[in-house]
Amino acid sequence: MITFQQIFNAAPNVEASAPGRVNLLGEHTDYNDGFVLPTAIPQTTIVQLGFSPNHQHHFYSHELEELVSLTTTDPIPQGFASYSLGCLRVVEQAGYSIPPLNVYVNSSVPIGSGLSSSAALEVALLRGLRSLLSLDLDDIHIAQLAQQAEIEYAGVQCGIMDQMASSLADTQHMLFLDTRSLDRELLPFPAGAEVLVIDSGIPRTLAGSGYNQRRAECEEASKQLGVKALRDITDLMQIETLSELLKKRARHVITENDRVLEAKQEITAVRFGELMNASHASLRDDYQVSIAGIDQLVSILQATPDVFGARITGGGFGGACVALVTQGKAGTIAQTVLETYRKAGYTGRLLVPEIPTTPRGNYAT
Ligand code: GLA
Repeated sequence: MITFQQIFNAAPNVEASAPGRVNLLGEHTDYNDGFVLPTAIPQTTIVQLGFSPNHQHHFYSHELEELVSLTTTDPIPQGFASYSLGCLRVVEQAGYSIPPLNVYVNSSVPIGSGLSSSAALEVALLRGLRSLLSLDLDDIHIAQLAQQAEIEYAGVQCGIMDQMASSLADTQHMLFLDTRSLDRELLPFPAGAEVLVIDSGIPRTLAGSGYNQRRAECEEASKQLGVKALRDITDLMQIETLSELLKKRARHVITENDRVLEAKQEITAVRFGELMNASHASLRDDYQVSIAGIDQLVSILQATPDVFGARITGGGFGGACVALVTQGKAGTIAQTVLETYRKAGYTGRLLVPEIPTTPRGNYAT
């Protein structure tokens, strides 16, 4: 493996990491000021930082085998460097000065599967900057700056769930988050259950345009209803005046918020699974962010013994599915499900629980 030392001819000064996330319930609710329930996944992004010897920032991605060099005033590029440079820019906008840096990124968070590889990169980089430059930033502030970098420099009108999950969640708990107040709580998983994540193998087409369109529809619905955000509507009777399309979008958000609020009350795994199944139906029929292959994978999961419930996860239009399954059974369930999915003509892969692979090498030199 090519190391920081080999790329930059010096040892890194600091190393930081941050995990990807999988959302269990509460999809497309965060930009409606609603409730979410993600957990961290074992896959992480590691960032190493050092001082650049010249006037340029240098960004190296181990996965992409790509080195991008930019002066501090260059326009924002495409690709992974946009997230990295975006983070440096928002920290500068927050009033800190940043010297030219060498940045080395190594990530095991799958890209394009709806598991927040971009939030993991942003949070890891901001954590690294915090320790390198002794910045006075807490974990919430880090999540907010990461979201700002994504919106302003990567062009995605995202909510705050992914960055909060990467900054504050762990793999042993669910993070309940009120995205309006940022009140949060780490909660245990339902008793006797564990999380299974399977990548559908279907790339997320329409992810950007479809996402921004859904967001605009929700804003239009709340405007017509005279509320700040759809979070403020709790009774389905209140949305009767909307057009059929906006009614569907609003109904998803309102019922999804209810599902999260029920799920945080220490319910059984069976009930939690029912809520996940209902969430998928709502995302498929009302919010319309699922696609045929994903529906197929979710149906296979839902029909498999020891699966409490399953649904699409993340922004939608492809990517991964999440299931809640009997503790200790995820590996065998994954084998059965992937085989049936293969017979249906698709190639998926198990993402969580993580299959141990060769260690990610020695980063220190
Ligand atoms: C993406 C966004 C999040 C959230 C989800 C959908 O992951 O980055 O803010 O809106 O989609 O729940």
